[in-house]
Parts: sequence; structure tokens; C-alpha cells
Amino acid sequence: MLNSDTVLFAVLGNPVSHSLSPVMHNTALSEVGYNGVYHAFKVKDIGEAVSGIKALGIRGVSITIPHKISVIEFLDELDDTAEKIGAVNTVINRHGVLTGYNSDCLGAIKAILEKTAIKDKNVVIIGAGGAARAIGFGIISQGGRITILNRTAAKGERLARHLGAEFQPISNLKKTGCQILINTTPVGMIPDTNVMPVQREDLDKTMVVMDVVYNPLKTRLLREAENIGCRTVNGVSMFVYQGAFQFELWTGKRAPVEVMKKAVLNALGKGDERR
Ligand code: ATR
Repeated sequence: MLNSDTVLFAVLGNPVSHSLSPVMHNTALSEVGYNGVYHAFKVKDIGEAVSGIKALGIRGVSITIPHKISVIEFLDELDDTAEKIGAVNTVINRHGVLTGYNSDCLGAIKAILEKTAIKDKNVVIIGAGGAARAIGFGIISQGGRITILNRTAAKGERLARHLGAEFQPISNLKKTGCQILINTTPVGMIPDTNVMPVQREDLDKTMVVMDVVYNPLKTRLLREAENIGCRTVNGVSMFVYQGAFQFELWTGKRAPVEVMKKAVLNALGKGDERR
């Protein structure tokens, strides 16, 4: 029951109509009996929207494309991880003081650690955008060694330098001694679901393979990897864990992770593929 005490949460992005955050967070709020509601706002001017967070007393927001970097100048504080990464996807409003966090990084690491240790492992990240950067910092903080593979060499080399990592063209995957492979590119996402970012022949059954793409839940990359016996990490785990971090930060309550995952899978029409 919404009433005058209901606490407001939101996602700010453009577009936001396909965001699964509202269904995930509203399900979680209701599950733990928290008097709150989570709304999606399509935002063009992030500076004005951030003033609105303060003016309206919104308790917490998720920040998504294209505002993850541009939001920073309007915040009061950044936590260390978000500062290193240079991108924010989570904001909490503590009595008018807005602090930015990066739960993408934390969510990805938690999802990987469920399947494998990261320390001293050779981790190959495909892609050199914002997701690669966030996950890369997380891998380093866990003591993994990174190689960046990217279609555009200049961009890949820049990120590799920034992370103190090595750069290689995508075709060199086999030479990297890869133990954990992470796709951060949109390759394989609907509607082009029959493509994968690396050659099938370059996969090896000893690799743990992760895809940040969660629609489809089982991308071609994950299917091919499973077929040869790899352990895999799907994009929904990362998405749910980053959301669980937000939920706990904002509400101070333990996130009902399984219920959140089920809500996301149902929204994706994959309620029968819970893994
Ligand atoms: P995000 O912030 O979500 O990571 P991004 O900054 O747009 O997104 O980065 C997307 C990454 O996916 C880039 O590394 C991009 O490679 P380029 O640097 O060559 O542009 C990669 N990418 C996107 N489409 C791709 C494709 N069809 N094949 C290979 N890589 C692709």
C-alpha cells in the first residue's frame, strides 16, 4: 500500500523502457515488506535530474546509459571503487548528501567468485568500453591478471594501459593462456543471437566463460562454452548481484537474491531456466 511514508527509488537513463531494474527492485521491496517504490525515469538532463533527487528526497537511484560518467560532476561524494573506475551506476541520498558507487564491478566479481577463484588467474576481457573498465578494476582488486582483447586496437590499448594490463587482438585468444573469459561487448545480444565475439575453436574446456549479455540468457558464446564442458556465468547473475548491492545499500536490509533473480528471469520469459 503506497502512502505518505513511501520511500522513492528510481533508475535514471535514456532509454529506460526496457530496464529490468523496476521489476527486480519492486519485487524485492515487496518481499522484505519495505514501504518503498522504484520508478523508471527517462532522463535527458542528468544535472537537473540529480537536483530533483535532492529536492524530492529520493532515497536511492540507479544510473544507466548514457549517464554513468556524466552524473559524477553532480554528486557530492564518490566511493573509492567508483572513483577509480570513473563511472557510477548507484547513488544513495543520505540526508541530502549524494554518494556515488559502482555496483556493476561488485556484481560481476560476486558472480564470477561463485564459480571460480580470481586470484592469480589469467583473465581475458573482450571489449574496452565502460563495462570492461568496471569489471577490469574488480578483477585487479581480486588479484587477477588481465589481457584486454578488442576489435579496435587503439581503444583496447588505452584501457589496457589504464589497468596496467596487456592488449591483444581478438584472434590471439588462444595465445593468452586464458583461464577466465569475460565478454563485455554486445555481440550475441538480441536480435543478432547467432554470433559470438570469439572463434568457437579458440574456446577451451578449462576456461570459465562469462557473458555480461543477459538477453538471451544463454548467448551463443555460453552455449558453445557449455557444449565443450566449460563452467559459465550468465549476465543475469551479474545484473542481480549488482542490484542486490544497491538494495542493501539503500534499505539496510538483506536483499532477497533468489526472489530478485526469479523476477528478472520471469520478465525475460525464462522462468523455467533458473540456474
Ligand atoms: P559499454 O559501456 O556497455 O561497455 P561501449 O562503451 O559502447 O559499451 O563498448 C562496447 C565495446 O564492445 C567496445 O569495446 C566495442 O569495440 P570497439 O572498441 O571496437 O568499438 C565492442 N563491440 C561493440 N560491437 C562489437 C562488434 N560487433 N564486434 C566486436 N566488438 C564490438
